[in-house]
Amino acid sequence: MKKLITALMTAGTLVATMIGCGSTADSGRIQAEPLTSLSADVTSSAAIYYKYTEQDIQNLQDFILVKPTEEDLAGKPYDLNGDDRWDVFDICLMKQEVFKETETGSDTLVIYFSRTGNTEKIAEYLIELTGADSYVIEAAVPYSDDDIKYQTDCRANREQNDKTVRPEIADPIDSIGSYDTIFLGYPIWWGEEPRIIDTFLECYDFSDKTVIPFCTSASSGIAASEKNIADLVPIGKQLEGRRFPASATKEDVQEWYDSLPLAR
Ligand SMILES: Cc1cc2nc3c(=O)[nH]c(=O)nc-3n(C[C@H](O)[C@H](O)[C@H](O)COP(=O)(O)O)c2cc1C
Repeated sequence: MKKLITALMTAGTLVATMIGCGSTADSGRIQAEPLTSLSADVTSSAAIYYKYTEQDIQNLQDFILVKPTEEDLAGKPYDLNGDDRWDVFDICLMKQEVFKETETGSDTLVIYFSRTGNTEKIAEYLIELTGADSYVIEAAVPYSDDDIKYQTDCRANREQNDKTVRPEIADPIDSIGSYDTIFLGYPIWWGEEPRIIDTFLECYDFSDKTVIPFCTSASSGIAASEKNIADLVPIGKQLEGRRFPASATKEDVQEWYDSLPLAR
């Protein structure tokens, strides 16, 4: 494999040299101008979040071979190795990205329970930012509006008052075995995670996982629920979680995500 990549790179260097990759190509084609029209800043920072596809590989290949491209390449983050050129080295890196993604899928899973949509909104931002897979925890017996009227003797209150209650999950996920990193989101109910989160935690093996809790609440913090989670089941590594208000924005979530000590 290493030999193949080296051979590809050598061949590509020859092709790139022959066709003057990085310089202006023939008129009528997408010009090989991105070195001047795209700044290095645009390419390097955009490349971090861009999800490359097989179409991108085709685009870059056509570009290098000075063939017309199907898409307009202006603004595309194709300088993957940051050398201010679009060449065969970038194709090699792009192929690694694309095929790694198709072979193994994401190694991150965003799991959440949300009764009134606040936690769901945060989870959706996270999914968008990380490209992670997702799973929604739903109760086998759904929580009605009356079930969460916390000023009354409602179901949610009764469950929170008894640490041993484990509400059944409607459609349990088969396995979390293929994921390394798990974001776990929930609302705060009476200062803690809803008991259905405990049901979920007790169903799977987290001993080799990194778990990152997040929650929404009116004002309570996440600390008590983090401690409950840590005490309930063995977890490989539990990172410090974050509580968000219902009004949190995508930028707030991104700022938190960027601050996490995760390999990216
Ligand atoms: C039964 C119940 C108990 C709650 N307890 C708290 C609490 O102790 N502290 C707090 O700040 N908010 C509390 N809330 C408010 C929720 O945490 C908040 O509205 C949350 O964002 C709801 O998330 P969701 O829309 O994802 O269900 C409680 C809500 C309910 C229904």
